[in-house]
Amino acid sequence: MNRKQNKDLATLLSDVAAATDLREGEEGVRAILSVVGRAGALSLRDLARRVRMPVPVVAAVRRELEKRGLLDRRGGLALSGKGLDLVDVEMDAAPGCRCPACDGEGFVIPEAFSPLLYRLREMAADRPAVDVTLDQSHAAPETALRRALYLRESEALDRDLLVLGDDDLTSLAVGLLRRQLHLKGRLAVAEIDPRLVACLRRVSDAEGFDIEVHPHDLRAPLPGPLIGTFDAFLTDPPYTLEGLRLFVSRGGSALRPGVGRQAFICFGHRSPDEQREVVRTISDAGLGIVEMRPAFNRYDGAQLLAGVSAMIRAVTTSHTVPPEDPYNGPLYTADKNSRQ
Ligand SMILES: C[S@@+](CC[C@H](N)C(=O)[O-])C[C@H]1O[C@@H](n2cnc3c(N)ncnc32)[C@H](O)[C@@H]1O
Repeated sequence: MNRKQNKDLATLLSDVAAATDLREGEEGVRAILSVVGRAGALSLRDLARRVRMPVPVVAAVRRELEKRGLLDRRGGLALSGKGLDLVDVEMDAAPGCRCPACDGEGFVIPEAFSPLLYRLREMAADRPAVDVTLDQSHAAPETALRRALYLRESEALDRDLLVLGDDDLTSLAVGLLRRQLHLKGRLAVAEIDPRLVACLRRVSDAEGFDIEVHPHDLRAPLPGPLIGTFDAFLTDPPYTLEGLRLFVSRGGSALRPGVGRQAFICFGHRSPDEQREVVRTISDAGLGIVEMRPAFNRYDGAQLLAGVSAMIRAVTTSHTVPPEDPYNGPLYTADKNSRQ
């Protein structure tokens, strides 16, 4: 690329970032162009997942790039001739380094556990419909099973586990996997939605999973029997930073005292500034992040999460934090005006 092309590209990136008010800035536009160029053609949803930005945000950038004649809609999204001239992407001439077995995710469901996946799909077919006012958005059954397998990899599957909010049916995946592996351990859920409470109880009773399902609004502190009695917690909180803070705080209060208790937190990918807040929020709760697996969780139709979220594994430290008082502030995406 010559100097003039470089300058044209830099201007274009900053114009599009400004026109779309893109929180990821010029680098976000560059990433979008580069992913489209490398892929040849791909759908808007796949693009959003690859760059980990919400679908409506990527759609806005696409519109601006189309206006400038850089994108075509052949077989999905593709660079136009002008786009190819300007962007100069390396078009998959060299093989990529993503693992072909797991497509770069670093995690596969072994064949031996496929029957659990079929069973989980049957269970998910009877799950109540999404209630968006509670920021529900169902994770795929594969995701629930991957979470259970990840707990096992993290030596947490047979520990006393609390799930905070469970429209994803993670507790059922844990029940299935424990049964197959002959593992035991306390398993509890705290959930606000009475339909889910009934669904989880029904399946747990039918399968003999012995899951304690507690109807509870996490805006209130946890009830006594759930405080300080678990080895680990797992949560997929509301998409807001307030939701993250509240659910992680409640999860922390459920753990036994001591360092090294594990927290499994599923949270959507954020803009750079918000990502800093995510890490700070977890750290302020007295937890140290030990692993972050991008795009670990996949959701049905969650446009705002680009259909994926990260799995963050954190542990308690010697920095203890008192649990929050009752919380009455904004919590759900609908309570907020920002791009959540
Ligand atoms: C907040 S939703 C979000 C999870 C979703 N799978 C996603 O895409 O991120 C997770 C679970 O938390 C539950 N939930 C929401 N608000 C709650 C509250 N105040 N107390 C307890 N559970 C709550 C929901 O009913 C749901 O089962």
